[in-house]
Amino acid sequence: MIIYFSATGNCKYVSTRISEKTNDEIKSIIKLNKNKDYTIELDDNEDLGIVIPTYFWGLPVLVKEYLTGMEIKSKNTHPYIYAVSTYGTTPGGSLQIIDEILTKKGHKLNSRYTLRMVDTWTVEFDLTKEENIREFTEHTEEKLEKIIKSITEHRNEDLTEKTKGKLFYKLAQFAYDMERKTSNFTVDDSCTACGSCEKDCPVEAIKMDKNKPVWVKDKCLVCFRCLHRCPSFSIEYKNKTRKNGQYTNPNVKIFD
Ligand SMILES: Cc1cc2nc3c(=O)[nH]c(=O)nc-3n(C[C@H](O)[C@H](O)[C@H](O)COP(=O)(O)O)c2cc1C
Repeated sequence: MIIYFSATGNCKYVSTRISEKTNDEIKSIIKLNKNKDYTIELDDNEDLGIVIPTYFWGLPVLVKEYLTGMEIKSKNTHPYIYAVSTYGTTPGGSLQIIDEILTKKGHKLNSRYTLRMVDTWTVEFDLTKEENIREFTEHTEEKLEKIIKSITEHRNEDLTEKTKGKLFYKLAQFAYDMERKTSNFTVDDSCTACGSCEKDCPVEAIKMDKNKPVWVKDKCLVCFRCLHRCPSFSIEYKNKTRKNGQYTNPNVKIFD
């Protein structure tokens, strides 16, 4: 089984590509969490893959909470477990955090992989230019092939990029917490009240009110799914994202 969190499609694409070779079922952590389904039941000799994006050098809050609450049921005392962390610029400590969570449950991360893809944090990155997208994805397919080979051969391997020390990514979590304020989002008059942001939000932080989205929770994941998937690109964050465009993984059609 592969469990994944994907706001804008990169991790779903990676999970799908792996599952095409391993024949594993893929399950969205967003859906599992909404259904309060915290039990991961593995068949005999079934592997567990965890595919997640890096957020502020760590994990999206929902992923951290889900993995902490999850129970792995397997006849195999030590199922083969691997994790892939997609990222745009610096992977940080997301895989170390997963390892710590699994160790507390008596499991171990057999293999860990980082994979550079398009960075969807458009507060900083301009995704309007084709050449920027090309730069982010220059080595994605080549590395993904290596990752898939490693997984199918059940290797115990560390194919991660070098990162800064633990202190750096612990500090980055404070920055993440600050950025999670939903008051940073605004919506302009181009909004057509289609309601896709309300439907799409992984943590139900948006409700339509008088034909405009309203953020009904103080904090969200800042996953930017609302912003990147808005059909009229009416949502902005801190007045910093409009100039940098929208991005969703072109190979993904269903965002769950
Ligand atoms: C809130 C947020 C924080 C992010 N933080 C980082 C980061 O610290 N380092 C990095 O390299 N990429 C960072 N990214 C980029 C994502 O990890 C990357 O684009 C990922 O592939 C998105 O996956 P998805 O499309 O499956 O949601 C961040 C993106 C968002 C939205």
